[in-house]
Amino acid sequence: MTKRALITGITGQDGSYLAEFLLDEGYEVVGMVRRSSTVTFERIAHLQDRIGTVHGDLLDQASLIDLLRTYRPTEVYNLAAQSFVQTSFGQPVLTGEITALGVTRLLDAIRIVDPDIRFYQASSSEMFGKVHEVPQNEDTPFHPRSPYGVAKVYGHWITVNYRESYGLHASSGMLFNHESPRRGLEFVTRKISHGAARIKLGLDRELRLGNLEAHRDWGFAGDYVKAMWMMLQQETPDDYVVAAGRTHSVREFCNVAFGHLGLNWEDHVVVDEQFFRPAEVDLLVGDATKARTVLGWKDSTTFEELVVMMVDADMDLLSGKLRPIS
Ligand code: NAP
Ligand code: GDD
Repeated sequence: MTKRALITGITGQDGSYLAEFLLDEGYEVVGMVRRSSTVTFERIAHLQDRIGTVHGDLLDQASLIDLLRTYRPTEVYNLAAQSFVQTSFGQPVLTGEITALGVTRLLDAIRIVDPDIRFYQASSSEMFGKVHEVPQNEDTPFHPRSPYGVAKVYGHWITVNYRESYGLHASSGMLFNHESPRRGLEFVTRKISHGAARIKLGLDRELRLGNLEAHRDWGFAGDYVKAMWMMLQQETPDDYVVAAGRTHSVREFCNVAFGHLGLNWEDHVVVDEQFFRPAEVDLLVGDATKARTVLGWKDSTTFEELVVMMVDADMDLLSGKLRPIS
């Protein structure tokens, strides 16, 4: 039987890595893209002759039903979201429409068109927010700290609900932060790697950041998309934490990134109030024992390797070496 996967959010960081992975596994890959006045295909340009794209939007139920009817996927990976926490404070309703209700629209489209489709929901460690225990696992209570985190809690529970109500093969991956050279420029890791490279090349003098004491469990996105696929290959759908199991501060990220370029981060980083959040998630560190034992998932990239990979890629990009994607 043809294995056909539909990826929402294929133009995003994870969508591009997941598409590569599924193509290597022999899947036909179709990506849902939303209409835009400019091209948003930078991360998947190198795959465009190997994947299909179809227009649709998590805000539009009919478009979801239509594309499921037309493409008949066997697996659906819901990676689309308004994914930037800071923006969710300024646009809480839009974030809820896309990141929360969008999940219901897609699940309901699956229920109507083909309840045998296997479904992956991109849940998040942001659901743990003001953490109730350290490290966080599948049983840790949620305490989201942003409209984005609240929306992800809804998306998580509606996935569980459709599994329990309609017997859908619906799984939720509670992924901790994962990064790469394809990370959006507004997220702190890429902001630092890109900013440090600009300073090294004389294009900037300073980098303005917010809370340097926040701790995150950062891994490499290329490792994490494999866990998504592994969940859908299980006989029984379930929920899994996916994390590296280590935590580092924004300050430490700066230290390694600038240090790799022979710079002292303290000479360049300026703390700027505008990048602080109304409510902060201070510390995330995940316990991925279940994913490691049940799925056999493992990661392959240390914190230092991740930082160096991102800084080197931004040095190449900014110094004109042909490396738009890696
Ligand atoms: P990303 O780079 O921000 O990509 C988000 C994707 O969603 C983009 O393709 C975007 O399309 C699409 N999108 C946004 N609104 C949409 C809408 N209304 N309809 C259809 N598509 C829409 O995010 P990512 O880092 O790859 O993350 C993938 C998913 O995992 C997200 O759901 C995120 O919340 C979740 N997650 C991420 C992490 C992480 O550390 N990266 C951790 C846990 C969970 P455009 O290109 O048109 O904007
Ligand atoms: N973006 C940003 N910009 N964050 C900053 C800055 C800055 O200038 N300075 C400090 N930070 C701190 C934030 O306050 C936060 O505590 C931390 O750096 C990480 O911020 P982001 O990189 O924006 O990521 P996030 O942890 O809020 O959210 C990401 O990870 C989630 C998983 O835990 C996103 O990818 C979410 O979509 C994802 O669910």
